[in-house]
Amino acid sequence: MENVIIEIRAYVQQKLESEGSGHDWSHIDRVTKYAKTIAEAEGADGFVCEVAALVHDLVDDKLGDPEEGIREVEHLLKKVSTKETDHILNIISTISFKGGGMPPVESLEAKVVQDADRLDAIGAIGIARTFVYAGSKGDQMYDPHLPPREAMSVSSYRKGRSTAINHFYEKLLKLKGTMNTKKGKELAEERHKFMEAFLDQFYNEWEGKG
Ligand code: ADP
Ligand code: NI
Repeated sequence: MENVIIEIRAYVQQKLESEGSGHDWSHIDRVTKYAKTIAEAEGADGFVCEVAALVHDLVDDKLGDPEEGIREVEHLLKKVSTKETDHILNIISTISFKGGGMPPVESLEAKVVQDADRLDAIGAIGIARTFVYAGSKGDQMYDPHLPPREAMSVSSYRKGRSTAINHFYEKLLKLKGTMNTKKGKELAEERHKFMEAFLDQFYNEWEGKG
Protein backbone atom coordinates (compact mmCIF):
# COMPACT_ATOMS: atom_id res chain seq x y z
CA MET A 1 0.00 0.00 0.00
CA GLU A 2 3.03 2.29 0.41
CA ASN A 3 3.24 2.60 -3.40
CA VAL A 4 -0.37 3.68 -3.67
CA ILE A 5 0.28 6.44 -1.14
CA ILE A 6 3.40 7.60 -3.02
CA GLU A 7 1.41 7.78 -6.27
CA ILE A 8 -1.48 9.67 -4.70
CA ARG A 9 0.87 12.10 -2.95
CA ALA A 10 2.68 12.86 -6.21
CA TYR A 11 -0.61 13.48 -8.05
CA VAL A 12 -2.10 15.76 -5.38
CA GLN A 13 1.18 17.61 -4.94
CA GLN A 14 1.49 18.54 -8.61
CA LYS A 15 -2.21 19.45 -8.78
CA LEU A 16 -2.31 21.75 -5.73
CA GLU A 17 1.28 23.02 -5.75
CA SER A 18 0.35 26.59 -6.67
CA GLU A 19 -3.27 26.75 -5.49
CA GLY A 20 -3.87 30.20 -3.98
CA SER A 21 -6.93 29.99 -1.70
CA GLY A 22 -5.45 28.15 1.27
CA HIS A 23 -5.73 24.64 -0.20
CA ASP A 24 -2.19 24.46 -1.47
CA TRP A 25 -0.04 21.36 -1.14
CA SER A 26 1.46 22.50 2.17
CA HIS A 27 -2.07 22.44 3.69
CA ILE A 28 -2.58 18.86 2.46
CA ASP A 29 0.84 17.83 3.72
CA ARG A 30 0.16 19.23 7.22
CA VAL A 31 -3.34 17.72 7.39
CA THR A 32 -1.90 14.34 6.38
CA LYS A 33 0.69 14.56 9.18
CA TYR A 34 -1.93 15.51 11.80
CA ALA A 35 -4.23 12.74 10.53
CA LYS A 36 -1.47 10.16 11.00
CA THR A 37 -0.67 11.43 14.51
CA ILE A 38 -4.33 11.46 15.59
CA ALA A 39 -5.09 8.11 13.93
CA GLU A 40 -2.28 6.51 15.90
CA ALA A 41 -3.40 8.03 19.19
CA GLU A 42 -7.03 7.00 18.60
CA GLY A 43 -6.44 3.53 17.14
CA ALA A 44 -8.04 4.45 13.78
CA ASP A 45 -7.21 2.88 10.38
CA GLY A 46 -4.02 4.74 9.43
CA PHE A 47 -4.21 3.95 5.70
CA VAL A 48 -7.77 5.18 5.28
CA CYS A 49 -7.01 8.34 7.30
CA GLU A 50 -3.83 9.10 5.36
CA VAL A 51 -5.41 8.63 1.92
CA ALA A 52 -8.56 10.56 2.87
CA ALA A 53 -6.41 13.44 4.15
CA LEU A 54 -4.40 13.45 0.90
CA VAL A 55 -7.49 13.68 -1.33
CA HIS A 56 -9.85 15.64 0.97
CA ASP A 57 -9.69 18.93 -0.91
CA LEU A 58 -10.06 17.49 -4.42
CA VAL A 59 -13.84 17.58 -3.90
CA ASP A 60 -13.96 21.14 -2.50
CA ASP A 61 -16.52 23.37 -4.22
CA LYS A 62 -13.98 26.20 -4.19
CA LEU A 63 -11.68 24.20 -6.48
CA GLY A 64 -14.23 23.19 -9.10
CA ASP A 65 -17.18 20.87 -9.62
CA PRO A 66 -17.38 18.46 -6.62
CA GLU A 67 -18.92 15.71 -8.84
CA GLU A 68 -15.89 15.83 -11.08
CA GLY A 69 -13.71 15.76 -7.96
CA ILE A 70 -15.39 12.51 -6.87
CA ARG A 71 -14.68 10.91 -10.27
CA GLU A 72 -11.07 12.09 -10.08
CA VAL A 73 -10.68 10.52 -6.61
CA GLU A 74 -12.29 7.25 -7.77
CA HIS A 75 -9.80 7.08 -10.61
CA LEU A 76 -6.91 7.87 -8.28
CA LEU A 77 -8.00 5.09 -5.88
CA LYS A 78 -8.37 2.38 -8.54
CA LYS A 79 -5.79 0.18 -6.76
CA VAL A 80 -7.53 0.58 -3.38
CA SER A 81 -10.25 -1.90 -2.34
CA THR A 82 -13.90 -0.95 -2.97
CA LYS A 83 -14.64 -1.01 0.74
CA GLU A 84 -11.81 1.41 1.56
CA THR A 85 -12.63 3.60 -1.46
CA ASP A 86 -16.27 3.91 -0.34
CA HIS A 87 -15.15 4.79 3.15
CA ILE A 88 -12.69 7.43 1.88
CA LEU A 89 -15.34 8.98 -0.43
CA ASN A 90 -17.77 9.10 2.46
CA ILE A 91 -15.17 10.83 4.67
CA ILE A 92 -14.25 13.52 2.17
CA SER A 93 -17.84 14.32 1.27
CA THR A 94 -18.89 14.80 4.91
CA ILE A 95 -16.03 16.62 6.69
CA SER A 96 -16.25 20.17 5.30
CA PHE A 97 -17.35 23.07 7.55
CA LYS A 98 -19.46 25.21 5.12
CA GLY A 99 -21.03 27.57 7.63
CA GLY A 100 -21.32 24.93 10.36
CA GLY A 101 -24.55 23.40 9.07
CA MET A 102 -23.24 19.91 8.30
CA PRO A 103 -24.36 16.90 10.42
CA PRO A 104 -21.69 15.26 12.62
CA VAL A 105 -19.49 12.72 10.85
CA GLU A 106 -19.84 9.05 11.71
CA SER A 107 -16.79 6.82 11.42
CA LEU A 108 -13.73 7.13 13.66
CA GLU A 109 -11.62 7.75 10.54
CA ALA A 110 -13.91 10.60 9.44
CA LYS A 111 -13.57 12.12 12.90
CA VAL A 112 -9.79 11.89 12.69
CA VAL A 113 -9.53 13.53 9.25
CA GLN A 114 -12.04 16.24 10.15
CA ASP A 115 -10.02 17.06 13.28
CA ALA A 116 -6.82 17.17 11.24
CA ASP A 117 -8.37 19.57 8.70
CA ARG A 118 -9.76 21.75 11.50
CA LEU A 119 -6.40 21.95 13.27
CA ASP A 120 -4.92 23.55 10.16
CA ALA A 121 -7.67 26.21 10.22
CA ILE A 122 -6.67 27.44 13.72
CA GLY A 123 -3.48 28.64 15.43
CA ALA A 124 -0.76 30.63 13.68
CA ILE A 125 -1.23 28.79 10.39
CA GLY A 126 -5.01 29.19 10.61
CA ILE A 127 -4.60 32.94 11.12
CA ALA A 128 -2.25 33.19 8.15
CA ARG A 129 -4.59 31.16 5.93
CA THR A 130 -7.52 33.36 6.90
CA PHE A 131 -5.73 36.53 5.81
CA VAL A 132 -4.55 34.91 2.58
CA TYR A 133 -8.10 33.75 1.82
CA ALA A 134 -9.66 37.13 2.70
CA GLY A 135 -7.09 38.85 0.48
CA SER A 136 -7.82 36.50 -2.41
CA LYS A 137 -11.55 37.37 -2.13
CA GLY A 138 -10.92 41.11 -1.85
CA ASP A 139 -12.25 41.22 1.73
CA GLN A 140 -10.86 43.74 4.19
CA MET A 141 -8.89 42.53 7.20
CA TYR A 142 -11.19 44.32 9.65
CA ASP A 143 -14.22 46.61 9.68
CA PRO A 144 -15.49 47.52 13.16
CA HIS A 145 -18.89 48.47 11.65
CA LEU A 146 -19.49 45.07 10.05
CA PRO A 147 -20.64 42.61 12.75
CA PRO A 148 -19.82 38.89 12.42
CA ARG A 149 -22.67 36.85 10.89
CA GLU A 150 -24.45 34.32 13.08
CA ALA A 151 -26.26 31.31 11.57
CA MET A 152 -25.38 31.01 7.89
CA SER A 153 -26.48 28.98 4.91
CA VAL A 154 -23.73 27.47 2.76
CA SER A 155 -24.25 30.08 0.06
CA SER A 156 -24.24 33.07 2.42
CA TYR A 157 -21.14 31.64 4.11
CA ARG A 158 -19.42 31.51 0.74
CA LYS A 159 -20.80 34.64 -0.93
CA GLY A 160 -21.65 37.21 1.75
CA ARG A 161 -19.25 40.01 2.55
CA SER A 162 -17.10 39.45 5.58
CA THR A 163 -13.67 40.33 6.94
CA ALA A 164 -10.71 38.28 8.06
CA ILE A 165 -11.36 39.25 11.70
CA ASN A 166 -15.05 38.32 11.42
CA HIS A 167 -14.02 34.88 10.20
CA PHE A 168 -12.57 34.22 13.67
CA TYR A 169 -16.08 34.60 15.17
CA GLU A 170 -17.90 32.94 12.28
CA LYS A 171 -15.69 29.86 12.31
CA LEU A 172 -12.22 29.75 13.85
CA LEU A 173 -13.10 30.26 17.52
CA LYS A 174 -15.87 27.66 17.24
CA LEU A 175 -13.59 24.91 16.02
CA LYS A 176 -12.03 23.96 19.35
CA GLY A 177 -15.47 23.03 20.70
CA THR A 178 -16.22 20.85 17.67
CA MET A 179 -13.13 18.64 17.80
CA ASN A 180 -14.14 14.97 17.75
CA THR A 181 -11.20 13.15 19.28
CA LYS A 182 -9.28 13.41 22.55
CA LYS A 183 -5.99 13.93 20.72
CA GLY A 184 -7.59 16.53 18.42
CA LYS A 185 -8.96 18.47 21.40
CA GLU A 186 -5.55 18.40 23.04
CA LEU A 187 -3.81 19.74 19.92
CA ALA A 188 -6.49 22.45 19.45
CA GLU A 189 -6.02 23.89 22.95
CA GLU A 190 -2.79 25.83 22.42
CA ARG A 191 -3.76 26.98 18.94
CA HIS A 192 -7.05 28.35 20.30
CA LYS A 193 -5.27 30.31 23.05
CA PHE A 194 -2.87 31.71 20.47
CA MET A 195 -5.80 33.05 18.40
CA GLU A 196 -7.33 34.72 21.46
CA ALA A 197 -4.01 36.38 22.25
CA PHE A 198 -3.68 37.45 18.61
CA LEU A 199 -7.12 39.12 18.68
CA ASP A 200 -6.32 40.99 21.93
CA GLN A 201 -3.11 42.31 20.44
CA PHE A 202 -4.83 43.13 17.12
CA TYR A 203 -7.52 45.28 18.81
CA ASN A 204 -4.93 47.03 20.96
CA GLU A 205 -2.89 47.95 17.94
CA TRP A 206 -6.02 48.93 15.98
CA GLU A 207 -6.79 51.46 18.72
CA GLY A 208 -3.21 52.66 18.60
CA LYS A 209 -2.50 51.23 22.07
CA GLY A 210 0.25 48.94 23.37
P1 ADP B 1 -14.51 25.56 4.58
O1 ADP B 1 -14.23 25.11 5.97
O2 ADP B 1 -15.63 26.50 4.44
O3 ADP B 1 -14.49 24.46 3.56
P2 ADP B 1 -11.90 25.93 3.92
O4 ADP B 1 -11.35 25.15 5.06
O5 ADP B 1 -12.00 25.30 2.60
O6 ADP B 1 -13.32 26.47 4.28
O7 ADP B 1 -11.15 27.30 3.79
C1 ADP B 1 -9.76 27.39 3.55
C2 ADP B 1 -9.12 28.36 4.51
O8 ADP B 1 -9.67 29.67 4.33
C3 ADP B 1 -9.38 28.02 5.98
O9 ADP B 1 -8.26 28.36 6.75
C4 ADP B 1 -10.56 28.87 6.32
O10 ADP B 1 -10.69 29.14 7.70
C5 ADP B 1 -10.32 30.10 5.51
N1 ADP B 1 -11.56 30.74 5.13
C6 ADP B 1 -12.70 30.17 4.67
N2 ADP B 1 -13.67 31.10 4.46
C7 ADP B 1 -13.11 32.30 4.80
C8 ADP B 1 -13.57 33.66 4.82
N3 ADP B 1 -14.80 33.98 4.44
N4 ADP B 1 -12.71 34.63 5.20
C9 ADP B 1 -11.45 34.31 5.59
N5 ADP B 1 -10.95 33.06 5.61
C10 ADP B 1 -11.75 32.07 5.21
NI1 NI C 1 -8.60 21.11 3.88
